[in-house]
Amino acid sequence: MPSILKQLSNLIAASVDQIDAACEAQGLQFPSLDEPFSPESEGARHIPDVLKAIDIIVVAANQLIATAQPPISSAIDFSNRLFTAAVLHAVNEANIAEIVREGGPKGLHVSEIANKSGLDADRIGRLLRLLATNYVFKEVSPDVFSHNRISALLDTGKSLETLKKDPIGKHDGTTGFSAIIGGTLDQGLACGGVLLETLQDPKFGHSQEPNEAVSNKAYNTTLQAFEFLELPGNEARFRRLGVAMDGSSRMHPPDTLLKGFSFATLPENGLVVDVAGGLGSVSLVIAKAYPKLNIIVEDRPQVMIEAEKFWMSNLPKALNTNRVRLVGIDMFAAQPEVSNKPDLFILRQILHDWSDLYAHKILKHLRDAAGLNTRLLIAESVLSYACEQSSDEVAIKGAKLPALPAPLLPNVGGANALTCFKDIAMMMLQNGQERTLLQYANLLKSAGWELKEVRRPVGSGHGHLTAVPI
Ligand SMILES: C[S@@+](CC[C@H](N)C(=O)[O-])C[C@H]1O[C@@H](n2cnc3c(N)ncnc32)[C@H](O)[C@@H]1O
Repeated sequence: MPSILKQLSNLIAASVDQIDAACEAQGLQFPSLDEPFSPESEGARHIPDVLKAIDIIVVAANQLIATAQPPISSAIDFSNRLFTAAVLHAVNEANIAEIVREGGPKGLHVSEIANKSGLDADRIGRLLRLLATNYVFKEVSPDVFSHNRISALLDTGKSLETLKKDPIGKHDGTTGFSAIIGGTLDQGLACGGVLLETLQDPKFGHSQEPNEAVSNKAYNTTLQAFEFLELPGNEARFRRLGVAMDGSSRMHPPDTLLKGFSFATLPENGLVVDVAGGLGSVSLVIAKAYPKLNIIVEDRPQVMIEAEKFWMSNLPKALNTNRVRLVGIDMFAAQPEVSNKPDLFILRQILHDWSDLYAHKILKHLRDAAGLNTRLLIAESVLSYACEQSSDEVAIKGAKLPALPAPLLPNVGGANALTCFKDIAMMMLQNGQERTLLQYANLLKSAGWELKEVRRPVGSGHGHLTAVPI
């Protein structure tokens, strides 16, 4: 029997062979870290076999490192990630990525970055070196930094002058990657420091209320997170969230959502309601793929102002012909009246914002507005235990996870870690949570829905759960 180290390195080697073969078969090159980022250059990572092999590499490599290095190094490494996060936050907010872009592949010396950013040259060098040591940016020669494929994602593509003129609109019209990173770090760093205090608070530590969460202590507010974002002074955060949500749909292969549900089974002129749809990024994909469907995007009234700009620049005809309608709502009140019962409600990344108490209310309002043939599509990260699946979970159609070779963690370990991180982020934000399939099944049942199946399109971080009225 080979050693654990050998088993893990064999799995990595076999997965690399699989990637090379899949890329060769399609005439694609797997991009190196130094290659500039563009969505088109991600082609290799849209091949299903490549995506499966990447999962194995990530989980096996993490396990290999944890097994090989001394436990104390792992523990310290883990605690030091906080510093990497703080540094990334500072670099992102100080627009260093936009400045570094000006140096092109040859890079820019820290003194030039200092001139443009107003930060201290020596300190910039130290921040960027920590990141370059973690494969974000490249130190091309001492104190000279250029972008690599990962740091390029921090770049909004805007000039420094534009960003200085309109800091609030920094992320408007961008890919949303910098917005996702900025939002995660802004919230995570503010909340991390008061997590323990909140957990130990006799009231907040057990609350299901969205305004008794870690973020309420961190930002010293009694408002729910989405109300807090609409306060004067939070305009940049508010607009960043919309763009970040749009960007999150670009984290997966473009047709992911369309594979998560059989849209072709909807009636030709059917009605899809994208509940709390944000700007409507998901609806945009559906509207383009199924031009006969009617779509309503619902969200808080203030979000609809941004949504209108989004649709006018992406698919104005859909708005002008009323095929797509934008409706300001409160999803904790009854659904607006429509002439025909909706054929499909979509909840993408909504239920995870809320505790069971509030998620139940959302589902109940949708159930009250549903007809016999209405279906509900929930797109969310699905939590898996870090052990074998239970037989109850496996009984749900589509729930069984592909078996992973020993000695890998059954839940794809590090490749699945994002769901666990998001679970904690949702707890901090509003006492929300990511859920296991069984938790979804029970929650749905409590509100009059039956979970029928889950689909997990390869490469999507989301499970796509379909439910029908009971
Ligand atoms: C995590 S975002 C998801 C947006 C969108 N579904 C997507 O996947 O891009 C959560 C959304 O819920 C909306 N929201 C929060 N509270 C709401 C409420 N009471 N009524 C309607 N929408 C609400 C927010 O404004 C935000 O757009």
